[in-house]
Amino acid sequence: MIDFRSLTEADFPMLCGWLNSSHMRAHYQKTPITIEEVQGKYSERLRPSHPIHCHIACYNGEPFGTLQCYLLRNYPDFASDIGEHDGIAVDLFIGDERFIGRGLGKAMLRSYVLNVVPSIFPQDSKCFICHAKENMIAIRGSLSAGFLPCRDVIEGGVESLLLSFDRPI
Ligand SMILES: CC(C)(COP(=O)(O)OP(=O)(O)OC[C@H]1O[C@@H](n2cnc3c(N)ncnc32)[C@H](O)[C@@H]1OP(=O)(O)O)[C@@H](O)C(=O)NCCC(=O)NCCS
Repeated sequence: MIDFRSLTEADFPMLCGWLNSSHMRAHYQKTPITIEEVQGKYSERLRPSHPIHCHIACYNGEPFGTLQCYLLRNYPDFASDIGEHDGIAVDLFIGDERFIGRGLGKAMLRSYVLNVVPSIFPQDSKCFICHAKENMIAIRGSLSAGFLPCRDVIEGGVESLLLSFDRPI
């Protein structure tokens, strides 16, 4: 029921609406963002050579969330923050509020690390995700998706929990 496709330019207005939703303020998008800023930030990520790979998650064909993955070695500052220099980082959010709290967050994360990430980074089996310690729903969701806690870290000045997932290869 959940499938994934690459982000496209046509998704930018939807993405902008999602990022400006009230449920995104606490942890993911703390300040409002304009469509020009969305275009500026995400259009370069559409290039196949860009190190960040962005995807839209769909439920029965309807877009509801966004995920992205990238190699930690391409982002050494973030890698230093979390104390891991090899492997893949994953970020996610459910943009459409109607899809929050229905089990789709944990389902899309598990499916993404098992089915999408390996097709992009077949050589790397370890994925990391970082959540603010206050974001208990995200932490519980990642645990249910099969991630295990690694350690407490400070990410962007925020007390956070780093979790990891070893996929079979
Ligand atoms: C974090 C997020 C992806 C989780 O997805 P979700 O579909 O809302 O959550 P799920 O329904 O998969 O539930 C995940 C866990 O949280 C629990 N949970 C969900 N809603 C809850 C609530 N309102 N109160 C308490 N627990 C809740 C679920 O029971 C589940 O735990 P379990 O597997 O131990 O039973 C989603 O809420 C989201 O995108 N939030 C906004 C952006 C964000 O915080 N992104 C992550 C930052 S890195």
